[in-house]
Amino acid sequence: MFPEWKGVFRRRTAQRVENDRPCRAEEIPIHVAVIMDGNGRWARRHALPRAAGHHAGMLAMRDAIRAADDWGIQVLTLYSFSTENWKRPRQEIDYLWRLVDEFFQLDIDELVERNVRIKIIGDPSQLPQVTQNTIARALHRTKDNTGLTVQFALNYGSRWEIVKAVQEIAYQIEKREIAVTDIDEKMLSDYLSTSGLPDPDLLIRTAGDQRISNFLLWQIAYAEFVFVNEMWPDFTRKHFYSAIQAYVARERRFGGLK
Ligand code: IPE
Ligand code: IPE
Ligand code: MG
Repeated sequence: MFPEWKGVFRRRTAQRVENDRPCRAEEIPIHVAVIMDGNGRWARRHALPRAAGHHAGMLAMRDAIRAADDWGIQVLTLYSFSTENWKRPRQEIDYLWRLVDEFFQLDIDELVERNVRIKIIGDPSQLPQVTQNTIARALHRTKDNTGLTVQFALNYGSRWEIVKAVQEIAYQIEKREIAVTDIDEKMLSDYLSTSGLPDPDLLIRTAGDQRISNFLLWQIAYAEFVFVNEMWPDFTRKHFYSAIQAYVARERRFGGLK
């Protein structure tokens, strides 16, 4: 149970942030996806080990989740570990899993309180058993929540996800449960791990690089891209706010005319 004062504090926070929404409520992107890049460079600039950069990145992530919730974003997808990140030194990878444990231990109560629903996309089966357990608990505790959905892309790769979807569809055909002509865009979308959620409206990548790095290739067909130069640990609510304002100023045509 939360002490009484915590509820009061939260209501005040909600009050304060009500006025800081970057645009009108109906203009807010429904789904924002973020490539949280630059933790290592941030650490190097501060003459700190890469682990310190990842830790600082976790704090930035917490603020981004709070802002997304306060502003009424419905889905926030956070690229946390790619299928290619296994190429990194063992020590760094181990630290990242420890950080996942730490994040859920520290933040789960607040996430539950905020009515956040947690989802994981990617393959958690290769993660340490402790981390898998922590994740399973977090999923269980938030499964009936109806507020912001936070999707963590953990051991996620878009090509992996598409190959898996194609295999599952092919298997259905092999069993003669569907015909080849039944395959359409909706079916493929339904076999992806993001199934049931709208595609991202806005994709933000920090740290200056302008590439996708195997993230949501199918789902970002019509997303607006905002690349920012700040390293992820320096990405604050203010930068998030500006990214949304940049998004709102865009004209989305989806191939049509305006
Ligand atoms: C992003 O920061 C976090 C992960 C990929 C886990 P990086 O660790 O890629 O930081 P840079 O790109 O080396 O600065
Ligand atoms: C993308 O960042 C993956 C995550 C943020 C988890 P990377 O640092 O792995 O991407 P590249 O290697 O620069 O393309
Ligand atoms: Mg990087």
